[in-house]
Amino acid sequence: MGMAAVILVILGILLFQACTTVPCCPGVYKAPSLSAMPGSLVLSGDNLTLQCHSEIGFDRFSLTKDEKLRAPQRLEGQPSPNFLLGPVSHTHGGRYRCYCGHKNSSTWLAPSAPLGILITGIYEKPSLSARPGTSVKNVTLQCLSEIWFDTFHLSKEGSLSPTQVLHLQDRAIPYQVNFTLSPVTSDLEGTYQCYSSNSNSPYLLSQPSDPLELLVSG
Ligand SMILES: *[C@@H]1O[C@H](CO)[C@@H](O)[C@H](O)[C@H]1NC(C)=O
Ligand SMILES: *[C@@H]1O[C@H](CO)[C@@H](O)[C@H](O)[C@H]1NC(C)=O
Ligand SMILES: *[C@@H]1O[C@H](CO)[C@@H](O)[C@H](O)[C@H]1NC(C)=O
Ligand SMILES: *[C@@H]1O[C@H](CO)[C@@H](O)[C@H](O)[C@H]1NC(C)=O
Repeated sequence: MGMAAVILVILGILLFQACTTVPCCPGVYKAPSLSAMPGSLVLSGDNLTLQCHSEIGFDRFSLTKDEKLRAPQRLEGQPSPNFLLGPVSHTHGGRYRCYCGHKNSSTWLAPSAPLGILITGIYEKPSLSARPGTSVKNVTLQCLSEIWFDTFHLSKEGSLSPTQVLHLQDRAIPYQVNFTLSPVTSDLEGTYQCYSSNSNSPYLLSQPSDPLELLVSG
């Protein structure tokens, strides 16, 4: 065994030992991150791709859903492998993580943070309307459903942040929640939609409400 090989093996052992615990060794190994295209809210029947962004040098990648392993994929020389999940159904809703490894080792390094994939289009849509806030400093978006749901989500078109979530407080019909948006600045302008869901199936959402465009004057 040449010198280079010995150094590689030692480095490999060090990396292996350092990275089998979580959180992992800053400066040596950075956990991958996982993102969804076109986004983490996906209409049932639409295509979904999950992309694992890792440091260069990994050649084995795996995806887990709700902590269960999906088929590992080897994508050599690709630092950001794509997992094509194809047209989604209700079975795709859940919490995903990606893992990276080296092809000569059976060890997976610390995984990405979990990414929740919400499948929409499962139930009938709620309705969304804007109401004046309790002051000019905030505005209320009311999401309302005639059918019983205990959780409501608000999304903003083009936003990368997760949906805002509220749980039903008042059990009177119609079932509704008020999302308060503040401060009222031009940052709030945009198109909003809300969804309803049940907490016993947290990753399955209704059809989106009709879109509501919010304009801020002044
Ligand atoms: C999903 O992707 C496949 C293959 O790229 C394509 O044929 C199909 O039309 C896509 N479906 C939708 C709903 O976009
Ligand atoms: C990985 O394993 C293959 C054969 O299984 C071997 O040829 C190669 O040298 C190994 N690579 C490293 C970096 O250990
Ligand atoms: C709306 O703004 C007013 C004045 O700033 C504040 O007192 C009130 O708590 C806000 N309402 C909510 C629901 O945040
Ligand atoms: C939402 O706001 C409306 C009026 O703006 C009010 O009538 C309703 O009770 C509020 N609902 C909840 C759940 O707070």
